[in-house]
Amino acid sequence: MKKALIANDHAGVELKRVVVSYLAAAGYETHDAGCHDTQRVDYPDYAKVAAEFVQANPQSFSILICGTGIGMSIAANKFSGVRAALCHDAYTAAMARAHNDANVLCIGSRVVGAGVAESIVGAWLNTAFEGGRHGDRIAKIHKAEA
Ligand code: RB5
Repeated sequence: MKKALIANDHAGVELKRVVVSYLAAAGYETHDAGCHDTQRVDYPDYAKVAAEFVQANPQSFSILICGTGIGMSIAANKFSGVRAALCHDAYTAAMARAHNDANVLCIGSRVVGAGVAESIVGAWLNTAFEGGRHGDRIAKIHKAEA
C-alpha cells in the first residue's frame, strides 16, 4: 500500500473526507493529521506537519486543504525539499507532477467542489515526473534554497 498524509484547516474538513475516501479506493494508506472539525485553527501548523512528512518520507506525498489552498502552499514551500503546488484542476495537478515533481498537493475547498477535487487527486496519482530538463530546473530551485 502506498502512503500519504493529508492535513487541513477548519475550512477543509469536509473536502478532506472526500479526498480520504478517494485515496482509500485508490489503494493509498492515508494518515489524517487533522484538523477534524470546524473549530478555527491556523493553517501553518498543518502545513508544517505535511512538510515534515515529505521531508521524512521522500517517496511519499502530502495533501493540504484550506479555504483557497493559498495559505497552505505558501507555508509548506518554506520547508526545505518541499515542492507544494496549488492545483485547481486535473491539468495543473498533472503538470505539477510531470514537470515540477511536486510532493505536496494543495487544494482550495472554497474554490473547487468534490468532483473536481477527485479529478485533481486522480491526475496527481496517475502522473509520473518526467525528469530530464525538468530535473535540472528543480536542482536549480534546491540550489537557491541552500
Ligand atoms: C480560513 O478562513 C482561510 O483563511 C484559510 O482556510 C485559507 O484559505 C488561507 O489561505
